Amino acid sequence: MNGLFITFEGPDASGKTTQIRLLAERLVSSGIKPVITREPGGTPVGEKIREILLDKENKDITPVTEMLLYAASRAQHVARVIKPALEAGLIVISDRFYDSSEAYQGFGRGLGGMVRTVNEPAVDGIKPDVTFLLMAAPADVSDRRSAANLDRMDAENISFRERVAAGFETIAARDSERILMIDGTRSIESIASEIAEYVGRLLGRTL
Ligand code: TMP
Repeated sequence: MNGLFITFEGPDASGKTTQIRLLAERLVSSGIKPVITREPGGTPVGEKIREILLDKENKDITPVTEMLLYAASRAQHVARVIKPALEAGLIVISDRFYDSSEAYQGFGRGLGGMVRTVNEPAVDGIKPDVTFLLMAAPADVSDRRSAANLDRMDAENISFRERVAAGFETIAARDSERILMIDGTRSIESIASEIAEYVGRLLGRTL
């Protein structure tokens, strides 16, 4: 693979989307057009799966159904977007990837190691080159979104969110070469600069 695969992870409303936009702007300013994508979603089929997963009406989804739907969205995303782009030498930035399944379904829902097994065929050997994990305390995060805007996942209770946050920390400690954990309560600009420096080093240029 000639491209570069960058993922952003973190609990809900941890600032990922803002940081992805800022990194993309810096890349574009230096003449590089990245592929920006997200999970669940990133393909027409994946976006339909996203709607099912986040619809507040679907209270009845079981943890295993949920895990399989995220993995299904990922399988389509890897096969139709991520892998072809990396093979073409592009930079791919994804808002979430398999670490989210481990944190939310593995740790949050308590499905544990089954999540990895199920995701193996979905990821098809693709691994991020670097993952920026933005962490903010679960309580801070719920303050950032009004109750009316909560989807099925962010309407989960505080103990679920705490398990997810602790799960992300465990995942980061286990894979510290790939995952850079960032305090998401720092200023937007200082986080953006740290990320740009890191990616610049990988690309051998200043962003
Ligand atoms: P987003 O709000 O960052 O777009 O993500 C949608 C929700 O889906 C968010 O609550 C995290 C959750 N999620 C999982 O539970 N497992 C996964 O594998 C992914 C990709 C997201």
